[in-house]
Amino acid sequence: MNIRKVVIPVAGWGTRSLPATKNIPKEMLPVYNKPVVQYVVEEAIRSGIEDVVFITNRDKNVIEDHFDYNLQLEAVLERAGKTEQLAVIRQVAEMAKVTAIRQKKQLGLGHAVLCAEDVVAADGAFAVMVGDDLLFGMNPGIRQLVEVAESERLSVIGVMEVEQERVSRYGIISGEEIFPGIFRVNRLVEKPKVNEAPSRLAIIGRYVLTADIFLHLKQVTSGHGGEIQLTDALQLQADNKGLLAVKIHGMRFDAGDWSEYLTANIYFAMQHEELRDDLVRRLKPLLP
Ligand code: UTP
Repeated sequence: MNIRKVVIPVAGWGTRSLPATKNIPKEMLPVYNKPVVQYVVEEAIRSGIEDVVFITNRDKNVIEDHFDYNLQLEAVLERAGKTEQLAVIRQVAEMAKVTAIRQKKQLGLGHAVLCAEDVVAADGAFAVMVGDDLLFGMNPGIRQLVEVAESERLSVIGVMEVEQERVSRYGIISGEEIFPGIFRVNRLVEKPKVNEAPSRLAIIGRYVLTADIFLHLKQVTSGHGGEIQLTDALQLQADNKGLLAVKIHGMRFDAGDWSEYLTANIYFAMQHEELRDDLVRRLKPLLP
């Protein structure tokens, strides 16, 4: 099993982030000096995956454009002798091989993944990274899953422990820990009530899926809210071939949640020495 392609669904409406996302895709909102989706693509590249398949909609061409050359801007920067900025924007255009597929109706994450079938199924297995989920750490999140999937030849999903009162925002798994931090999944429950969650292990937006997921996606029709839920198809994989979950190490921010999005901005700015001191100085008096 060799994971060469990553599917990045970016076709959602981003209703939690309105009015910012009325005309700008949520995945293009900046976190410090880059759009959210660039961090996601960079994580894939750091994991050795350079073939990116965006699942988009009619209003999201700007995402593909971001990973393409902007010759006019390049010419302006060249004339102005701004070689550093020129190198930065060229590097973004050259970082990945991009394919875009339209999701014509926003029928959920499962449906978005199903849209990629013709492009990725022949590979046998592929990665999925949710386009608004940011993960940072020494070992890139998706690589942590790829390593396990390639050795076990099964689908692997990324999980993280969340506080009990937050379980109802996530898909939650139950399973048996077969190696430290690696679980054989028995059950997946989408957004359980706080007192009904089988664990505190929440599914986050990182997956490596074997191609039989498409068969299961076609079996599950409408789940929660009339959408095709990836979680339902994963349950069928768990019941048949088997499904693993890996506890991901790193910092995670959901860019669709304002508090996490704003924290991510500060976290990133803080990584830059030239900004850190000034930022801390300005933020301190604002604290209650
Ligand atoms: P979310 O549920 O976080 O995104 O889906 P959303 O639907 O855009 O946001 P809200 O809840 O209305 O604010 C996670 C990811 O899956 C994509 C989204 O673009 C996002 O990156 N997605 C979601 C699709 O590609 N298609 C869909 O039908 C739904």
